[in-house]
This record gives sequence, structure tokens and C-alpha cells, in this order.
Amino acid sequence: MYKPSFWLVVPAAGIGQRMKAECPKQYLRISHRFILDITLSRLLANELFSGCMVPLNPQDRWWPESESAKDPRIQTCTGGKERADSVLAALEALAGQAADHDWVLVHDAARPCLHPEDLDNLVASLCEHPVGGLLAAPVADTLKLATEEEPAGVAHTVDRRRLWRALTPQMFRYGALRSALEVCLEQGHPVTDESSAMEFSGKIPALVEGRGDNLKITVRSDLALAEFILGHF
Ligand code: CTP
Ligand code: MG
Repeated sequence: MYKPSFWLVVPAAGIGQRMKAECPKQYLRISHRFILDITLSRLLANELFSGCMVPLNPQDRWWPESESAKDPRIQTCTGGKERADSVLAALEALAGQAADHDWVLVHDAARPCLHPEDLDNLVASLCEHPVGGLLAAPVADTLKLATEEEPAGVAHTVDRRRLWRALTPQMFRYGALRSALEVCLEQGHPVTDESSAMEFSGKIPALVEGRGDNLKITVRSDLALAEFILGHF
């Protein structure tokens, strides 16, 4: 029987505007290593993957200095304007290597704290699933819907029992994900993650509960938090 391969796509073409640093945030260092190198080495410690595609910004001048640039399992391509454009560029660059039925795991370069057990659990939970899905964490805070006026007040309290925070990796079939992203980008439908593209194509991605500390480094204060989390595995 045909056994699907597993591919990694790690979008790293962003400029980290909200971080306001001197370089894109994936090239900031935690314990002397680029965040991007920490993320990639943690993912590739898992021997599941046949290969890894990393879309980079055309202006990127830091990649050649990374540890990852020396890793023969990692290929790079040029990313695009939005995250979804970068992911689609990476999928296009995998054409001829990945088959439609192969699995692709997409994971943000800016999430170095992915726990290896969460990665294993995602793959084990979804490898027989018809659609695929994503790591997600239940929302812990009480959530308020704001009124429309300025300054906003509370319109009402939202029932959080069915609300989840979408994390990465997100795991879908190569062919289905590529077509779903193509359709969204052609039709101008906003896509902030792979799941939203699959949802737009009528599919129901599975939610796999992951650790809430799989944070996406976004602003300065996240750096200290990530360093702390990485020191406590
Ligand atoms: N990303 C990408 N291509 C883009 C935009 C983002 O590959 N055009 C990547 C980022 O490098 C990051 C991941 O997608 O690893 C998640 O995006 P985000 O956290 O928003 O990173 P940035 O877009 O770089 O940050 P900001 O939104 O603050 O500018
Ligand atoms: Mg962004």
C-alpha cells in the first residue's frame, strides 16, 4: 500500500514588524542561537520528515550565517508578501518531490518552543484522518465582545467553551492544501493559517490539543518568556 511521506514547511519570510528589532525576529538570538535555528533543529530532531522547505524574504541577508544553512535536509525558496503567499511558494517549490497524498506540516519559524511530544501527538492523532488538522489550545481567559463605539465597552461575554487558539504545526495533505491556498489567494479570501484555507474549501480540520506554551514570538517581552520555556523542558 502507498505510504505517504511527511514534509516540513517553515515560513520564515516575515520582517517582524511588531518586534521593532534591528533584524527580522527569527534572527534574534536565544542562548546565542538564532530563533530560526532552534525551531528547525527541534523539528528535524524528529526523523519522520523526508525534507524541509523554508521560504525566505528576498531581502534576507542572515540565512547564510545560520546553522540551518549547512543542513542538507533543508531547502529554501523565495517567500511572498503575506504568510499564505510564502507557504504557497514553499509548496510550489516542493512540486516534483512531494506527492498529492503526502502530509505537509507547516510550522512558524517564530515558534521555537514546540514540545516534541506535541509534534508526535499531532502526527499520531491525524495520520489516518481524512483532512488533517492543527495543534490548538483551549482559551483560558473570560472573553468579552466589545461594543462598536469609541471608547469601547463590553457588549457581552462570549461563551469560551468552543473557542480555541490556533497554533502550529498544522498538518494537511500536500495536494489539498496547495489547491485550498490557491483558491483563497485567487479569490482574495483572508488566510492567516492553513486551517482557514481548508475551512474555506469546505473541510473540517481536526483540533488536536497542544500545550499553551507553544508561543509565537511577536513582541519583545515574548523573548524572555521563550527563553524561560526552552530552559524548562
Ligand atoms: N511569514 C512569512 N512570510 C510573510 C509573513 C510572515 O513566511 N510574508 C512567517 C514569519 O517569518 C513567521 C510566521 O510566518 O515565522 C508567522 O508570522 P508573524 O508572526 O506574523 O511574523 P512576521 O510577519 O514576521 O511579524 P509581524 O507580523 O510582526 O511583521
Ligand atoms: Mg505577520
